[in-house]
Amino acid sequence: MGSTDSAKRAAQRQKSAVEVEAAAGGYMDHEPGDPSIHVTRKGVAAALRATGLGPGDTVLFHSSLSSMGTVVGGADAVIDGFLDAVGPAGTVAAPTLSSWRELREKRRVWDLWSISDTPTYCGLIPETFRRRPEAYRSNHYSHSVSAIGPRAEELTANHGQSGLRESPWGSGAFAVQSPWQRFYDWNVFYCLIGVNCQRLTMVHFVETHLVHRTLARAAPDRRQALLAQVRGWTSDGIWASIGTDKRLVAEEIFREKGLLHFGSIGSARLRYMRIQPVVAAWIALAENDPAYWCSEGFVRWLDNT
Ligand SMILES: CC(C)(COP(=O)(O)OP(=O)(O)OC[C@H]1O[C@@H](n2cnc3c(N)ncnc32)[C@H](O)[C@@H]1OP(=O)(O)O)[C@@H](O)C(=O)NCCC(=O)NCCS
Repeated sequence: MGSTDSAKRAAQRQKSAVEVEAAAGGYMDHEPGDPSIHVTRKGVAAALRATGLGPGDTVLFHSSLSSMGTVVGGADAVIDGFLDAVGPAGTVAAPTLSSWRELREKRRVWDLWSISDTPTYCGLIPETFRRRPEAYRSNHYSHSVSAIGPRAEELTANHGQSGLRESPWGSGAFAVQSPWQRFYDWNVFYCLIGVNCQRLTMVHFVETHLVHRTLARAAPDRRQALLAQVRGWTSDGIWASIGTDKRLVAEEIFREKGLLHFGSIGSARLRYMRIQPVVAAWIALAENDPAYWCSEGFVRWLDNT
């Protein structure tokens, strides 16, 4: 039995905890912080440097502020700690995703979306980050990214302007021209602070690739009909959904393969990785065993391609 199988088994054991969380409202949330542990800007930078993150790097983070303990200086101290770790030649990015409350709003999302005013639901650190005057934010109503540093403008430019790929978040979210593709192409340093791989937005980049690689392989005369069956922003259909339980399986596999590493910032666990080999490994796993990783509808759709 290979290490992938043992990771799947380990994740099965964890599944009940995930299911308990799911019943309580969806994702595993964040780790509880220990307020007796104090974290400073210097401490954040030191914890990040201990991972190998260094001057000139580009880094993206998903975060829970409270998981770190008591952060002296709050969200700004964490942001400054990241900026210190990569230095003036480095670029820091945060997910500044936004959502809608009801279908009516979803249909009008382009009218409602404001690059300067729409808040992110990704936490206080990204919300504070995007409001900094030096931050660039990509222009996408659901999957925007904000960044600070010399590559920030390039990273966030023209989100969804070309290289479109149909997805449940519209055809621009994970387009060729998107920060998410650039994270992959640039093989950025990717961090999770006090949250696990269930929060890894790149899972949707993986799903998008699974669908679009399938379309690329399909017979040309079938491609349009198959594309029409893919779920869109307001249209129902198939999608290669990788469930939150499977994301924990993936986390364990990445750890076993030496692609995912662990450190800490204050009381929070810090997960970190280079994103390109993680995405490549995930696509390979899912293409090898789509019935395990993806939704039933996607597997049926695959059978028809
Ligand atoms: C949702 C989520 C952000 C909640 O984490 P959190 O730690 O409770 O919230 P935030 O990071 O927004 O930080 C605010 C909390 O930090 C705490 N806080 C405030 N100042 C603080 C400080 N100086 N030191 C430590 N904690 C502090 C407060 O409790 C505050 O919660 P409150 O608003 O309920 O009072 C987290 O679970 C998560 O999912 N993060 C990843 C989000 C993401 O990137 N998603 C991608 C797509 S799924």
